Amino acid sequence: MKRILITSALPYINGVKHLGNLVGSQLPADLYARFMRAKGHEVAFICATDEHGTPAELAAKEKNMSTADYCLEMWKIQKNLSDQFHLSFDFFGRSSSESNYKLTQDFAKALKNEGLIKTVEEKQLYSQEDGRFLPDRYVVGTCPECSYERARGDQCENCTRQLQGAELIEPKSVLSGSSKLELRKTNHLYLLQSKLQEKLKEWINEKDNWPILTTSIAKKWLTDGEGLQDRSITRDLEWGIPVKSNGITWEGMEDKVFYVWFDAPIAYISATADWTKTTKKDPNEWKTWWLNDHGAEDVYYVQFMAKDNIPFHTLSFPATLLGTKGQWKLVDYIKGFNWLTYEGGKFSTSMQRGLFMNDAIEIFPSDYWRWWLLSNAPESSDSDFTWKSFQSSINKDLADVLGNFVSRLIKFSKSKFGDHIPVGSGYSDLEKNTIVEILKYFKAYEESMAIMEIRKSANLLRKIWSLGNEYLQTSAPWTVIKQNPEEAGKIVRFGFNLLNFYSDISKPFIPVTCQKIKSCLKISYNENEWPENRELVFSNLKGGESFLVIENLFSKIDDDKIRELQIKFGGN
Ligand code: 2FM
Ligand code: ZN
Repeated sequence: MKRILITSALPYINGVKHLGNLVGSQLPADLYARFMRAKGHEVAFICATDEHGTPAELAAKEKNMSTADYCLEMWKIQKNLSDQFHLSFDFFGRSSSESNYKLTQDFAKALKNEGLIKTVEEKQLYSQEDGRFLPDRYVVGTCPECSYERARGDQCENCTRQLQGAELIEPKSVLSGSSKLELRKTNHLYLLQSKLQEKLKEWINEKDNWPILTTSIAKKWLTDGEGLQDRSITRDLEWGIPVKSNGITWEGMEDKVFYVWFDAPIAYISATADWTKTTKKDPNEWKTWWLNDHGAEDVYYVQFMAKDNIPFHTLSFPATLLGTKGQWKLVDYIKGFNWLTYEGGKFSTSMQRGLFMNDAIEIFPSDYWRWWLLSNAPESSDSDFTWKSFQSSINKDLADVLGNFVSRLIKFSKSKFGDHIPVGSGYSDLEKNTIVEILKYFKAYEESMAIMEIRKSANLLRKIWSLGNEYLQTSAPWTVIKQNPEEAGKIVRFGFNLLNFYSDISKPFIPVTCQKIKSCLKISYNENEWPENRELVFSNLKGGESFLVIENLFSKIDDDKIRELQIKFGGN
């Protein structure tokens, strides 16, 4: 048994997340967490809302709310939506928690003690019209790298380059739209990342099993010199973690807060601490996940994120951890994702383009979304959500393949054998060959799940389901029963064992459906179970067990519904 720490990128608090956000971190992380728990490993699956910085302030202003009230309300909404999508976080915390304040201040203190922080006088964009500095997202303009016109003052979402507001071409205030901006002097704390360049290079070069997407982004940043420049870790903002902290004087920093990208990843740690402090016998258990000298050396730590987050997680956050010279756990594997697009264009929170979690869950059950998103995850390239593709995947994979297997089996059994699975023993060649074939794909499925090859895993699972259908087709119990009811009973019994197996192995993808199947079989649903015993898997149900009829596991989506949704949400 391994101990596996899983974090998914912390969603910004500023609004409900869209399906692109969901598939870019939280959902694949959930798939992996569910699989690893089922395989018997000890898992800590941690997430939190990313609450500081300009996005939160701006969104709260738009709603005329205090930033604190806004964040609390949005945290509840995001938590509720993650429950509705059955994201199985062990803890869903907040980066604005008391423990994150303290830990962030402690990190700054430790970095200062290592000589890695200095005060730098710099020039920041100041808006006369707004009477304030315009850090990060308070300013937009054209990206100097790729010419994207709505690049923000912290990062260009088009080419992922980290930016300073002053680098933008034709910058404008987001608050007033004013372009009457000037550069004014202000002091900020800088983390001297350049001093950590060699250590980080060494660390990244060891990671030869990381996905190409992750290492190529990390190495590009390391070698083109952009990545490990010294960076400012404070901001002129009201909302955030104050720099002032116990036992240390930060001259000139009295009104400043830490930059959101400094405190957010630290919240992975503080949220783990909030979890163990509130739910575990030993409140200090978080140390066994995060401190190498408390046992974290043996933890396997995996992070999930979209590609724009990769530079922060391969360089900036490790630099923070390494810089303290503490015993902090560094990530073992980063699973990065490309973009999900919506009907050929970008998803956009600011422009409300695409499909958002709250709308999606009102229209179709969570398993439909989980299946489409995971089986189309943007792993090696971007992928495109279209309503047509969604319709086809639900109708074909879920309704025609899995759903059809279930309904044919159950209806036939009920009509010919009543409420109980027919009793009997032994299988013939057809079942034995089917078992061999299924186990071959099952082995490949387990292997690809273990290394987080998500689309491949979905394809293999679909193949395993389809082997069930092929078996029913070939064995044709509806014909056999006319001559040989006992033989037909055997086919049905094998079918029920397949169904039970499907429910066990499909739960990381479609947990609600698997739970339904178990209740039809009157077997308790256990998330931490996996069919390990290959001998027994297909003869667990001996016959004589009663079952309930499932009316409709999946409903097909018709063309009219798709047209209606295309009109409502935009699309071809
Ligand atoms: O891109 C985002 O959505 C960020 N809120 C991710 C932060 S991840 C972590 F470092 F906190
Ligand atoms: Zn750009």
